[in-house]
Amino acid sequence: MKTGVIGLRMGKAHLTGYEQNPDTEPYGICDTDEERLRITQKEFNIPFATNDYRKLLEIKDIEIISVATPDYYHRQQCVDALFAGKHVLCEKPLALNIDDCIEIARAVKKSGKKFMVGQVCRFAPGFVLTKEIIESGEIGELFFVESEYAHDYRAAEGVGKWRKDKRRKPFIGGGCHAVDLLRWIAGDPVEVFAYSNHRCLDDWPVDDATLAIYRFEKDVMGKVFCSIGCIRPYTMRSVFYGTKGTIVSDNTSNQILLCSTRYFKTKSNYDFVKIPVRIISHNVHAEINYFVGCLLNNKTIEMDVIEGTKTVAACLAAVISSEENRKVNIREELFGKFENL
Ligand SMILES: NC(=O)c1ccc[n+]([C@@H]2O[C@H](COP(=O)([O-])OP(=O)(O)OC[C@H]3O[C@@H](n4cnc5c(N)ncnc54)[C@H](O)[C@@H]3O)[C@@H](O)[C@H]2O)c1
Repeated sequence: MKTGVIGLRMGKAHLTGYEQNPDTEPYGICDTDEERLRITQKEFNIPFATNDYRKLLEIKDIEIISVATPDYYHRQQCVDALFAGKHVLCEKPLALNIDDCIEIARAVKKSGKKFMVGQVCRFAPGFVLTKEIIESGEIGELFFVESEYAHDYRAAEGVGKWRKDKRRKPFIGGGCHAVDLLRWIAGDPVEVFAYSNHRCLDDWPVDDATLAIYRFEKDVMGKVFCSIGCIRPYTMRSVFYGTKGTIVSDNTSNQILLCSTRYFKTKSNYDFVKIPVRIISHNVHAEINYFVGCLLNNKTIEMDVIEGTKTVAACLAAVISSEENRKVNIREELFGKFENL
């Protein structure tokens, strides 16, 4: 299948993924930055390059489009690509508000094309193994899950400083990784209370740290911390507490820590078993292979447009909670808006 990529920074990882997949071929690219466009065209030997994504969508032979532009453009570019008859892989977050997510969801339904949101943490080897261990019953029933997205954005404002825009709440833009991870492993959150502050990035127009406490289905409690101004190496340290054990994992660590009653019978010898994993924090390669595999085999895509919308909704609920200083019922106030789509 011939592929097209819009936005060539994160999108370069998509190009590499399509180049390495035996069933896809990078065929067209688009970026508004002419220099980046030409350099990338040469680097990947791409037949077609344009600074107008609509021209890319006109190419009949292209079956797949990756949307890897700043978040604000996802809605329009995804909708246009779907109605142009393309299958679409859109970078996370799906969009920055529910109305945009719903518009994309309607376009997916109307067009009948396949759609996936690139929640890439679902492909990080450590998190994949964590989920497998939890599903095997090794740590019993989950009762508390936590994840954090701790990053320093000082040098990551994005081309044209698009991340430094008050519409881009860090808890949606970056925190969606941690929220999606917990949703993937613990199911949907029901309600949330959150606090946020603005202590690190004085010249940014948004709160740079948020702490959200979630209540999930099945009586599971959850905590997500998101900071885009902290001074430390990037981490998504996550902890999963079950009735028979505990797992600590991170997409930036080469091991998972596991303590369970199978290995440690008494409190006096509790310790962590170290399980080695590969560090691939942004496993776009596996993400692309999964997407292409679903297309070729006509399989249901797990990270579909509703999954992407639910993650945005769960993040947005925390933003509303911290801004309005109140508990937000995610099901009633947000999930209800798209349950009949
Ligand atoms: N999966 C991940 O972990 C991950 C990591 C980083 C970024 N992202 C997401 O990827 C997307 C892009 O982020 P980035 O870090 O590459 O941003 P960036 O600012 O570094 O690069 C964006 C690129 O898109 C181009 N562009 C901007 N507007 C365009 C338009 N209208 N048409 C065509 N090209 C346009 C820019 O010139 C630039 O080359 C965002 O949605 C971001 O949230 C995901």
